[in-house]
Amino acid sequence: ITTDEFSGLKKVQLQSAEGTSAEIFLHGAHVTSWKTSKGEEVLFVSKQAIYKPPKAIRGGIPVCFPQFGGFGPLSQHGFARNSEFTVSASAADSVTLSFTPREEQLNLFSHPFELTVQVRVGSDTLEQTLTATNTGSEPFELTAALHTYFRISSIDKARVDGLQGVDYLDSLQEKERFTENGASVHFSGEVDRIYLATPGRLEVVDEAKGRAVVIEKEGFPDAVVWNPWIEKAAGMGDFGDEEYKEMVCLEPAVAGSGPVTLQPGASWSAKQMLSLRQL
Ligand code: BG6
Repeated sequence: ITTDEFSGLKKVQLQSAEGTSAEIFLHGAHVTSWKTSKGEEVLFVSKQAIYKPPKAIRGGIPVCFPQFGGFGPLSQHGFARNSEFTVSASAADSVTLSFTPREEQLNLFSHPFELTVQVRVGSDTLEQTLTATNTGSEPFELTAALHTYFRISSIDKARVDGLQGVDYLDSLQEKERFTENGASVHFSGEVDRIYLATPGRLEVVDEAKGRAVVIEKEGFPDAVVWNPWIEKAAGMGDFGDEEYKEMVCLEPAVAGSGPVTLQPGASWSAKQMLSLRQL
């Protein structure tokens, strides 16, 4: 564990034998960097991100738990991303972070649980696993997401592939349900959609960079696609007005297909594996 020079927050740095690296803040078990073995950053973090807990860091991979978006009684995306985790295991290329809700959080969500976030880097790969265990005596419902912000060279040359024929809930139209007709999702305005029961393999394709990030997911049926575009970007205090051009969120989630019911003593686990493909 080291202290981040800029923010003073605690973080863990991982490195694979091949030189792929990642950085994870204990605040939120938040991945803020994933660099290829050539040193190229794959994730987007806003230049205006605020590193002041309990505020969540804008960019990287916020962990949305035990609630995604507004799918429940908690405030948007739950409280894991606003909470301090502890390190329960670590090696050069992997770390496991744990969190149990504090008393004031249990006043909002009266179901004790343990959440672990495991991150591992390999040769130009990043694997991230969420595991939640119900440590209480009653079942509870959860939704969740790995709210991944990908850095792209330019929004007009980026697209998301793998969603053709998939139904989605449009969060910009009161969650009305539509079917994706296109082979790719392109961006020419705000997009905020929950794709339901998607294929397990999706791609964020960056034509200008000549590569795609491949997202493989297990245990997350859904995938959220988000770009705030001009107006929403201007309204966010921790996001630059022009930064919408540099990012796309593709978020493995259990959202519209959820919730998952977790019985006492039972565990739920889901993961994403990120890798790269040259075009
Ligand atoms: C996305 C949601 O997952 O997260 C959007 O679909 C939301 O509706 C976005 O605006 C960012 O959320 P937040 O809470 O980090 O500003």
